[in-house]
Amino acid sequence: MDLNLTQSQKMIQQMVRTFAQNEVAPGAAERDTTGEFPWEVVKKMAQYNLLGIPFPRKYEGSGADTLSYIIAVEELSRVCATTGVIVSAHTSLGSHPIYQFGTEEQKELFLIPLARGEKLGGFGLTEPNAGTDAGSLQTTAIRQKDYYRLNGSKIFITNGGIADTYVVFAKTSPERGTKNIAAFIVEKGTPGFSFGKKEDKMGIRASSTTELIFNDCQIPVENLLGQEGEGFKIAMQTLDGGRIGIAAQALGIAQACLDASVRYAKEREQFGKPIGSLQAIQWMLADMATQIKAARFLTYQAAWYKDQKRPFSTEAAMAKLFASETAMQQSIKAVQIHGGYGYIKDYPVERFMRDAKITELYEGTSEVQRLVIAANLLK
Ligand code: CAA
Repeated sequence: MDLNLTQSQKMIQQMVRTFAQNEVAPGAAERDTTGEFPWEVVKKMAQYNLLGIPFPRKYEGSGADTLSYIIAVEELSRVCATTGVIVSAHTSLGSHPIYQFGTEEQKELFLIPLARGEKLGGFGLTEPNAGTDAGSLQTTAIRQKDYYRLNGSKIFITNGGIADTYVVFAKTSPERGTKNIAAFIVEKGTPGFSFGKKEDKMGIRASSTTELIFNDCQIPVENLLGQEGEGFKIAMQTLDGGRIGIAAQALGIAQACLDASVRYAKEREQFGKPIGSLQAIQWMLADMATQIKAARFLTYQAAWYKDQKRPFSTEAAMAKLFASETAMQQSIKAVQIHGGYGYIKDYPVERFMRDAKITELYEGTSEVQRLVIAANLLK
């Protein structure tokens, strides 16, 4: 792997960094307080082509690689983790499975508006009784002549209620097991499809997280993604990509923790000198920077493997495991460095700590990532 970014990757990094500073950072603290979805930011991201970065120009994406997209999520999350996950869930989970598994007609109809940012995407896998054990989902999609009848519900859906297009997983027969799951493209507004409870979350507070409810919802057979029985593998392969996005989100949060801590260590004086001159603080900063660099290598490497079309399931799990735990640990150190000020909302690090926690939970908990890594080792 070439450790230098290409010219175009550097350009995207610089462009998104500037965009994040100017357009996203100013409202981040307020969004965290109000929990209001950042529609204005999303509209601007569409104008800057940030909602279809890794998709070919043929489908009106930017035609950039996975690493460029990952760098964009990192830069956005560095100022606002809510914005980072909106882009990651839209791109990796809502749009990418249509790109990877969809027919040309499905790509024309559904991927193009997603890549243009005219529509947002979401992903419906998790259910009240099927979280880590995703294969035990209970939503059914029973084939009737030219449509499937969907019944059941999904929980914890990022972009829920906001997104227009969802990739939803359901069983096509009542038996247990991963072999009878299928994936469907379901559009907001389809009769029988509604949104339930909106969650009041600890962090990423302005991202929308809701239930999806299907009540005799009729999905045309043309909206079946892949074949019947392929749904579980589509979900797992989609999550392999999604986990690199969450690793990037975690990386952005961890970097924000370090940025704030270095700034504070230079400003804050105790014992007549900046606290950055104290070895206790220096060691924390040094450990933070080292962990973050390691997390960045793992995350970029996983993206690079994907771009090289090499198997990347293990690399994605390692990146997400390490980057999310790095984000959590660095947020704790950042609060510690800020002392009492770190615990109040005058400084951003308490938000970073609340935002960091979710990266160890969604798109597979840290325990799931260890399970995936170990299963591949022992294959
Ligand atoms: N790629 C392709 N195929 C895969 C795969 C992958 N990454 N992982 C598994 N499979 C295949 C297996 O090869 C197997 O195929 P065969 O039956 O043909 O041999 C089949 O899928 C079943 O695999 P397992 O027996 O390993 O499945 P399992 O039931 O034991 O589950 C698991 C394994 C890793 C625990 C999986 O259920 C899992 O990843 N759980 C976590 C789910 C998750 O991440 N949920 C997050 C929801 S989305 C979210 O959080 C989004 C958000 O809004 C931000």
